[in-house]
Amino acid sequence: MSIKVNENYQNLEQNYLFKTIAQKVNAYTELHPDKKIIRLGIGDVTLPLTNKVIEALHAAVDEMGHQETFKGYGNEQGYDFAIDAVMKHYQSYGVTLNKKEVFISDGAKSDCGNITDIFGDNEILIPDPVYPVYLDSNIMCGRKINFIQASQENNFLPMPNEVEKKSYIIYICSPNNPTGAVYSKDQLKQWVDFANETESVIIFDSAYEAYIHGDYPHSIFEIEGSRTCAIEICSLSKTAGFTGTRMGWTIVPIELVCSGTALNPMWNRRQSTKFNGTAYIIQKAGEAALSPDGFKECKEHIAYYMENAKLLSDLLNKKGIWHTGGISSPYIWLKCPNNMSSWEFFDYLLNELQIVGTPGCGFGQQGEGYFRLTAFGSRESTLEAIERLEKAL
Ligand code: MLT
Repeated sequence: MSIKVNENYQNLEQNYLFKTIAQKVNAYTELHPDKKIIRLGIGDVTLPLTNKVIEALHAAVDEMGHQETFKGYGNEQGYDFAIDAVMKHYQSYGVTLNKKEVFISDGAKSDCGNITDIFGDNEILIPDPVYPVYLDSNIMCGRKINFIQASQENNFLPMPNEVEKKSYIIYICSPNNPTGAVYSKDQLKQWVDFANETESVIIFDSAYEAYIHGDYPHSIFEIEGSRTCAIEICSLSKTAGFTGTRMGWTIVPIELVCSGTALNPMWNRRQSTKFNGTAYIIQKAGEAALSPDGFKECKEHIAYYMENAKLLSDLLNKKGIWHTGGISSPYIWLKCPNNMSSWEFFDYLLNELQIVGTPGCGFGQQGEGYFRLTAFGSRESTLEAIERLEKAL
């Protein structure tokens, strides 16, 4: 066949990180079907959807079943009620958005990948370690990728003074997946100033903002100057347990202009062509999750997960194992005991204790020797994991 393929795909790891883990776990369970595996790997929620969300889903399903209230295609950008709900959520952090700036999506992962569509061949700046989607999606379009190293020395919060001054697309995830490190207002301001000065664009992933504990920015748009240099991508996956329900949003400020072209109409154009909008039923669920009563329920679920995080952290403290995270994020980021590599520790936990975690090196080279545990398990399975770890470590 003479059809050319996108050869950049050859530069990717063979599998997406969580797929490799799933394959290893499946191979293990085939050999040991009697063993009970505890899954603290992929950051997937386990609590069911909240009452307000379920009520909204039922009501929306009923609407779809009646001629008068049935909905076909919606706006690609989202229904007004969902956009309003997002705008009110931002208002609670003191951020005022224009309706045209909010684009409802089916989640942050898709938008993190899709956003590359509106940029040309720029250099990319990616923290290491971080959520692997930023790297993979830029490898897919053949971009030159630069890494900024996050480490214990900089509290896993790399700063712009560690970077050569030029234009980049800069990815920032705060609270960070996997380390849980959160930028303060002052630190984010330094990134915003750097981006404005170098004519860079920040892609700010705030998927874990609802887990923030303390006085940290939930949105990049809390920072002065960000409207001329940042796009924000967020999701209800972790906030409202929507990992299987799928709703998120992207915010592209009207003032954001690159090489004389405004990005907001470009993203609008991209979405209008390639996306037909998030399902009405799901947007109704999202609206309910962001309503005051709905958000209160989400916060209760978050508190439950954060108690899991505390229990895991207490155990690691007791065992003298260095770790961070678990305060403003649902992840515990730990140093593998006995100088094990990330995959060695993964294999040890799987084979000896039947616990699945995520090897730190899957988030970048700087993650080698580290490991991530999620607090998204049930209380019961988290306690069982703790009991197994307590005996073994
Ligand atoms: C993770 O485990 O890092 C997340 O669940 C991945 C995601 O949100 O796509």
